[in-house]
Amino acid sequence: MSSQQPLLLVDNITVHRGGVPVIENVNLTMNAGEFVGIVGPNGGGKSTFVQAVLGVLKCHQGKVLINGQPPMTDGVVGKVAWVSQAAANLPKSVRLTVRELVSLGVLNKRTWFQLNQGRSSVIDESIRMVGLEDVADRDVNQLSGGQRQRAVIARALASQADFLILDEPLVGLDRASRNGLLKLLDGFCHQDKKTILMVSHDVTAMRKTAHRLVYLEDTVRFDGPPPEFPSLEDLASLRGIVDVHGGHHHDHSEAECTHDHGTHAHVDIHLKEAE
Ligand SMILES: Nc1ncnc2c1ncn2[C@@H]1O[C@H](COP(=O)(O)OP(=O)(O)O)[C@@H](O)[C@H]1O
Ligand SMILES: [Mg+2]
Repeated sequence: MSSQQPLLLVDNITVHRGGVPVIENVNLTMNAGEFVGIVGPNGGGKSTFVQAVLGVLKCHQGKVLINGQPPMTDGVVGKVAWVSQAAANLPKSVRLTVRELVSLGVLNKRTWFQLNQGRSSVIDESIRMVGLEDVADRDVNQLSGGQRQRAVIARALASQADFLILDEPLVGLDRASRNGLLKLLDGFCHQDKKTILMVSHDVTAMRKTAHRLVYLEDTVRFDGPPPEFPSLEDLASLRGIVDVHGGHHHDHSEAECTHDHGTHAHVDIHLKEAE
């Protein structure tokens, strides 16, 4: 693996779901140590993109390479960890302490043997990194939402993956937990040389934290540093949206417009809320 090689190369991928293209001609390159935030409206294809990067969804066209290799191959599995929002919504029937949950992170064939000896220190270190040492022996269901999200991140860290992919980890967290989590992830990048690809519809949060922002809606419509991220108005024109109250033929209320224009109107509201 040469150091020149990008950690992630997404080369012109198109991904279908239910026989229909959901994202098309998507390109993205990420170098080790970067923190890239993927933002975009609901239904814009962010989770689809993440699953294609992980190799869970096959590309109809184009390819994904992680350290020069396709996802889900031996050299890649174990180096990539995925944290979904749903991962923190553990069923109430699951009785696990934080330490037990984090221990599950080392259950992968590549690292099991080599970790067997240093296992508990990896687990303790992961718990420490997310700041949950005081609640390590507590049942995960007794934790706050923010603490649970940290616990599933600790599980990902325990796998010793150096590429973390997080899909909407901020959903349901209060402002303090959100800021704490973002600071934690930023620290992983700078101190621990992790690479982070994080999906969020919280543009404001991503703008403050990510090194680079990617706006994904069917395809990549912006890729650049946060200060250059377009305003809401510019985003609308990037997405070919015209002001429905301007030159259009509608005479119904704004509330109805929101419904009629489905995702697009919803998106504007969504993004505004996030501001
Ligand atoms: N399992 C599925 N089968 C068919 N279509 C799907 C499936 N999952 C998502 N989609 C569609 O793919 C599009 C993108 O969804 P998704 O990737 O979840 O977007 P996001 O994560 O940005 O909200 C949506 O139109 C959604 O309806
Ligand atoms: Mg999603």
